[in-house]
Amino acid sequence: MKVLGIESSCDETGVALIDSEKGLLAHAIHTQIDMHRAYGGVVPELASRDHIRRVLVLADQVLEKAGVAKKDINAIAVTEGPGLAGALLVGASVAHAIGYALNIPVVGVHHLEGHLLSARLADPAPEFPFIALLVSGGHTQFMKVEAFGKYELLGETLDDAAGEAFDKTAQLLGECYPGGPAVSRLAEEGTPGAVELPRPMLHSPNLDMSFSGLKTAVLTAVNNAADKTDHAFRCNLARGFVDAVVDVLVAKTIKAIKTTGIKRVVVAGGVSANKQLRAALIEACRRRRAEVFFPPMALCTDNGAMIAVAGMTRLMQMSPAEFEAAKKRWSFSAKPRWTLSQAAAPDAVDPRQAHRNH
Ligand code: KG4
Ligand code: ZN
Repeated sequence: MKVLGIESSCDETGVALIDSEKGLLAHAIHTQIDMHRAYGGVVPELASRDHIRRVLVLADQVLEKAGVAKKDINAIAVTEGPGLAGALLVGASVAHAIGYALNIPVVGVHHLEGHLLSARLADPAPEFPFIALLVSGGHTQFMKVEAFGKYELLGETLDDAAGEAFDKTAQLLGECYPGGPAVSRLAEEGTPGAVELPRPMLHSPNLDMSFSGLKTAVLTAVNNAADKTDHAFRCNLARGFVDAVVDVLVAKTIKAIKTTGIKRVVVAGGVSANKQLRAALIEACRRRRAEVFFPPMALCTDNGAMIAVAGMTRLMQMSPAEFEAAKKRWSFSAKPRWTLSQAAAPDAVDPRQAHRNH
């Protein structure tokens, strides 16, 4: 089965073609970072318009790279949510137009489910069950993943996501959006311990986290600096910030291993590209004889391949009758606010999430 994956939930247009036998055949990403940089963050309307410009061009590129004709695609997977409403609608309408024209099914995928399954594109790929640490610009969560579609939220940030804290720290240090890679580079030149920052909720008894106090600590340090443009100061502050985030994420990962008894960890989402986090998690897991998996570097941030993988897994579980019925489902939706628990079990109420979404 060949599945075309389309991701357009935020500021990356991603398209990929995956084959159930041969794996990932080709993928292409267009990032809008340069376009949004002037505004210091993502401008939703500009994002939607740019997705319109890019998505079909990328789809053609992917098919050409893979040497596959349009008529040989068996299904389409598209990000249904969460994300920016207009941006999601672009992906959904293009996916359904292609699906209609080719008479093939289109499945909507939860963006986080895509991140969660992106490590299945790594070699070796993790087996179920595993603990997933999802660290992106919008989410920081621990999930217990027992099987495809069986996700249990174990803990999450109570305020800012780790990626968001990276982006805000970068801004305070005078670096451009998105800040993760820039802060990571500065931290490499910093001296460990030169700036000590708080590690919020490090010893809390659960797997919840908090990063907004850390952001405030960075702001205070910048405000109190004799010269906030001094290179050594910026590097040391970045180092203090990265060490604090990494310490919290590593400690909570170890706690997740201990409380679930599952010794297999998958790290995904944009922040999983972070060098310092990768090195610390690899070492901490090695000491506890646990395995840790990361998506291939190019597939850590948003991409079409993760959506194709998640969609293909769902399609492969369909009976031939369900697959045929899916071809005739013409309606579609974009779900800007949509939790993974809602996606996995649409009728269940998740008490942890219920109060946060409204
Ligand atoms: O998963 P993603 O591409 O988009 C969302 O779904 O949010 O994650 C983007 C986030 C941004 O906050 C960005 O600063 C962060 O991932 N990020 C990094 C690195 N690369 C991207 N954070 C730390 N270190 C990196 N190398
Ligand atoms: Zn993402």
